[in-house]
Amino acid sequence: MDREVVIVIDFGGQYNQLVARRVREAGVYCEIYSYKTDIEEIKKINPKGIILTGGPNSCYEDDSPTYTDELFKLGIPVLGLCYGAQLMQHILGGKVEKAPVREYGRTTTHFDTTSKLFSDIPEESIVWMSHFDYISEPAPGFKSIAQTTDCPVAAAENESKRLYAIQFHPEVLHTEYGKDIFNNYLYNVCECKGDWKIDSFVKTQIETIRNKVGDGKVLLALSGGVDSSVAAVLLSKAVGKQLTCVFVDHGLLRKNEGDEVESIFGPSGDYDLNFIRVNAQERYYEKLAGVTEPEKKRKIIGEEFIRIFEEESQKIGAVDYLVQGTIYPDVVESGLGGESAVIKSHHNVGGLPEYVDFKEIIEPLKELFKDEVRQAGLELGLPGYLVFRQPFPGPGLGVRIVGDVTAEKVRIVQDADKIFRDEVDQALSEHKEKTGEEASWKPNQYYAALTNMRSVGVMGDERTYDYAVALRAVKTIDFMTAESSEIPYEILNRVMNRIINEVDGVNRVLYDITSKPPGTIEIE
Ligand code: XMP
Repeated sequence: MDREVVIVIDFGGQYNQLVARRVREAGVYCEIYSYKTDIEEIKKINPKGIILTGGPNSCYEDDSPTYTDELFKLGIPVLGLCYGAQLMQHILGGKVEKAPVREYGRTTTHFDTTSKLFSDIPEESIVWMSHFDYISEPAPGFKSIAQTTDCPVAAAENESKRLYAIQFHPEVLHTEYGKDIFNNYLYNVCECKGDWKIDSFVKTQIETIRNKVGDGKVLLALSGGVDSSVAAVLLSKAVGKQLTCVFVDHGLLRKNEGDEVESIFGPSGDYDLNFIRVNAQERYYEKLAGVTEPEKKRKIIGEEFIRIFEEESQKIGAVDYLVQGTIYPDVVESGLGGESAVIKSHHNVGGLPEYVDFKEIIEPLKELFKDEVRQAGLELGLPGYLVFRQPFPGPGLGVRIVGDVTAEKVRIVQDADKIFRDEVDQALSEHKEKTGEEASWKPNQYYAALTNMRSVGVMGDERTYDYAVALRAVKTIDFMTAESSEIPYEILNRVMNRIINEVDGVNRVLYDITSKPPGTIEIE
């Protein structure tokens, strides 16, 4: 590989992917490896730099993750962060022990700006600290290049050997000059050129795929989500009509979504490919009739997708390649780039089709983080509304309708959801126009769900007995934890009025304020 690469060795820190993203944002390609990776493998990669991440252990305990000291003799610049910094110092003969004062949070730090790592940053600024242990004495050959009130070695360097240890977390945005520190490490210390750019990735990928596929036939399951859409466009640019995309409309998509996907990828769209839309709504509603248990619904939706995909591919006949929209976090989460990536099942449900006849899998996005996939999508001409789409579960509205799924309930939830999303989007853009800033309540995921509760109401002079719609809007960074978003009452009220007036079959609107945990983001 002639592309320059910096590697992150992961010691179990919560920010491992963030570190790699920061490196890539700085223009250098970066991959994550487990601390269990053999040094010989690292030598083969021949990285321009090596970054050791944080981790939850104490490096002086016998069973804590460690690494051979050979790593520090390769002549490759190493940057240790938090646990990685302590481990480097410990292995090279410094002293690491329990700190008399634990540092956590924003901490004022003094920097030696004559160090290459800290050049062109102020002598004093705020960093993000999170540690119990600290480096009480740097290893021989190292000197302290940053200090806080409680931490005499907030950073240390051995300039001639190009080894750097940083106690704090430059990857976290609270560290004011974190970005500059990464830039200094990559460009001043590792002497990188900075050749990682999405536009050139896209160009090279198109060429690589074209050479690989030759005149072969390619099949892709298109869901309309960001990953499969970007993969589809990439393949279409590479091999045009040799690509067939199968889009299964399971009748559980958001309002108008099926038609939107068709307008982009279908015959009247901008891309050169064969597009097959399977309208399987009725088939799904039949299969789901009377099924109320969420996991069972998920299973049926996933399996039915596989069956339909198999039927369609049998019509096409043998294909050479099957495309998967695997992205880099899937690879990392399924074994840290060790063995080959676990195959991402379509929509994370169901699994890989058994009866599709293909020779090989192509995963064109498996090196990209989500934000890079979005950039690639824009680069390839996909519309912003698709590229910046909020996450949508594979089983779709199937898990947003509590209880059994019917065509009537799908209509209700689609209409209510459209009103809610439109009103929120409009309020968000008005807020931004007026103040120049994003609203503090801006949710990361928001939708309407249909509860299984019917209740008595009055409309005009008449008694009603209709469904209750639940609105859900959450703020979250990683989707593992979430808070309900404090949408102004005025907006909720407007949404309530519109839903009651415009959507038949609803006489009550609820706002779900449950955080995650204990709730989940989806209602089922
Ligand atoms: P939960 O409900 O687990 O959701 O808090 C976390 C994120 O995952 C999405 N989600 C799913 N995505 N298949 C998917 O592809 C599913 O079965 C599924 N369930 C939840 C959810 O929309 C949220 O972004």
